[in-house]
Amino acid sequence: MNIAVAIDGPVGAGKSSIARQAAKNLDFIYVDTGAMYRGIGLYAVRQGVVTTDAEKVNALLPGIKLDIKIIDGTQRVFLNGEDVSEQIRLPEISMAASNVSAIPEVRAFLLDLQRGFAKTNNVIMDGRDIGTVILPDAKVKIYLTADAEVRAKRRYDELIAKGQDVKYEDVLADLNQRDYNDMHRETAPLKVADDAVIADTTELDFEQSCALITKIIKEKAEI
Ligand code: DC
Repeated sequence: MNIAVAIDGPVGAGKSSIARQAAKNLDFIYVDTGAMYRGIGLYAVRQGVVTTDAEKVNALLPGIKLDIKIIDGTQRVFLNGEDVSEQIRLPEISMAASNVSAIPEVRAFLLDLQRGFAKTNNVIMDGRDIGTVILPDAKVKIYLTADAEVRAKRRYDELIAKGQDVKYEDVLADLNQRDYNDMHRETAPLKVADDAVIADTTELDFEQSCALITKIIKEKAEI
């Protein structure tokens, strides 16, 4: 029986970097589901489609082939055969991803792809609805969060380190807007699963956060 760990939480809580490290520690595969919504958001933007227009976005779905490959332990996202792992991280794609993720057909489009990973692997999967919708029977569910200002500062530092030209105020506003969208949509909104452990990393650095998450997983999964 494979072990599934679901990590959900708001923007910039450190889900991907912490989950990636915890997966390495425990020899699980790590799956970042946000990257899939970003892939669809990127495709819609490239096609010149307004990403809040559900009808137009849905019309694009048959033309999208999304492949997730784990190469040297790192997840890469291929959109119709093209590796778009870097392009999907651009700030303008973040809001596009949040917009398309509110569309029920888009969520249905990605469901089997996401569940498939947990059928054949020990997996740590992060997103917004992993513990509530995608893997409701996950052995471990964690809601990872931190104060919005702290999350915005971390995201800002990350983007600056990547050489992107951004302002802290814009990063904070974008983060608050996306959290609002993700928590208030009708289909699979971000919320704390009943059986989730809440992990708040406001006062923790990266190492401490990884140690906390790894400890919770080991305890809950009894490994
Ligand atoms: O985790 P992220 O910032 O890369 O995700 C991008 C957007 O995708 C996020 O604003 C909401 C959406 N998303 C979602 O709705 N469900 C998921 N499981 C993962 C991401």
